[in-house]
Amino acid sequence: MQWVTLSGPQGYKIPSIGLGTWKAKDDDVYNAVLTALDVGYRHIDTASNYGNEDQIGRAISKWISQDQGSRENLFITTKLPNYGNRAEDVQKFLKMSLEKLQTHYIDLYLIHMPFAFRLNSSGTGPLMEKDNITMVIDYDNDNIATWKVMEQQVKKGLIRSIGLSNFNISQVQKIYDAAEIKPAVLQVEMHAYLQQNELIDACRRMNIAVTGYAPLGSPQAAQHFSTKYQYNNFNVLPSLLTNQVVQELAKKYNKSPGQILLRHLLEKNIIVIPKSANPKRIEDNFKIFDFNLAIEDIKKLNALDRKEEGRTFDFRFFRGIEKHPHYPF
Ligand SMILES: NC(=O)c1ccc[n+]([C@@H]2O[C@H](COP(=O)([O-])OP(=O)(O)OC[C@H]3O[C@@H](n4cnc5c(N)ncnc54)[C@H](OP(=O)(O)O)[C@@H]3O)[C@@H](O)[C@H]2O)c1
Repeated sequence: MQWVTLSGPQGYKIPSIGLGTWKAKDDDVYNAVLTALDVGYRHIDTASNYGNEDQIGRAISKWISQDQGSRENLFITTKLPNYGNRAEDVQKFLKMSLEKLQTHYIDLYLIHMPFAFRLNSSGTGPLMEKDNITMVIDYDNDNIATWKVMEQQVKKGLIRSIGLSNFNISQVQKIYDAAEIKPAVLQVEMHAYLQQNELIDACRRMNIAVTGYAPLGSPQAAQHFSTKYQYNNFNVLPSLLTNQVVQELAKKYNKSPGQILLRHLLEKNIIVIPKSANPKRIEDNFKIFDFNLAIEDIKKLNALDRKEEGRTFDFRFFRGIEKHPHYPF
């Protein structure tokens, strides 16, 4: 496995592959985490609003209690939910994540999205419109104020590194300029159809590591958003895993299409977090450190970039979100 050293005086290292867990629930995610730890993963990516932190916490705690490893050997990323994206809500949501994950600190805590939604009366979930599908938008959230409270949590030892997700270049730059503790990581959608080279370059200049989410193209995302938000206005892309170039390279290197797509991002020093709840695919996705792609093959994969046309996660399934002042795309 490879590691990427994060900015900051402590020189924390993030494993360049982590297990993605979005949409994995209950026993599926519990077993997936145990399988992944067994295979050699040491980095788990979750979020408050994936609703699976408690199962992940159970799996991690079981792994540690069986003396198979220690908390220090693990890297846990979780995220401040978009309905808690305000300075006054950071501590509450961080505390909930710490309790569910059964840990005293989070390795990497991200602001999940630059925009925000209002909280419901219980203060733990989003306030819904009458249709019960649309979340009520909070147009007034201040990401710099949120960041300042995140910095305080680092100073208290509750978080090791802080970062951003789904922020664009100018939004990252604003946080960077205002920060005492600079963002260590930016997590964004990244795969062969959406390569985001300008954003990567900007992050390099700010010494911010980049994590690519949906590295396999998130094959089930459109279906999920259609069911959950009744949103069907998607630019549905052809499957990356069955793309001809990817398939040909898989044959050439005697690897799976998934391994080719993940290796392509690794070659650019991007951290990858493929999700799987299938033991065979969890193992397969981890076996990407025993080969390199030749430069001409990297060029073939680079040529698959569709720029903005390749984006799946534009968040327009949150109705009206493009009117938010911090909508990033
Ligand atoms: N920050 C954000 O806003 C954000 C947004 C989206 C995702 N994320 C994070 O990034 C992670 C990855 O993104 P993602 O889950 O959207 O998409 P992804 O990792 O690109 O794709 C996951 C899908 O591909 C399947 N799969 C996994 N390995 C495979 C392989 N080797 N061959 C064929 N199919 C394979 C999985 O099914 P099986 O489970 O059946 O294997 C699952 O349906 C998430 O889980 C989450 O942790 C973050």
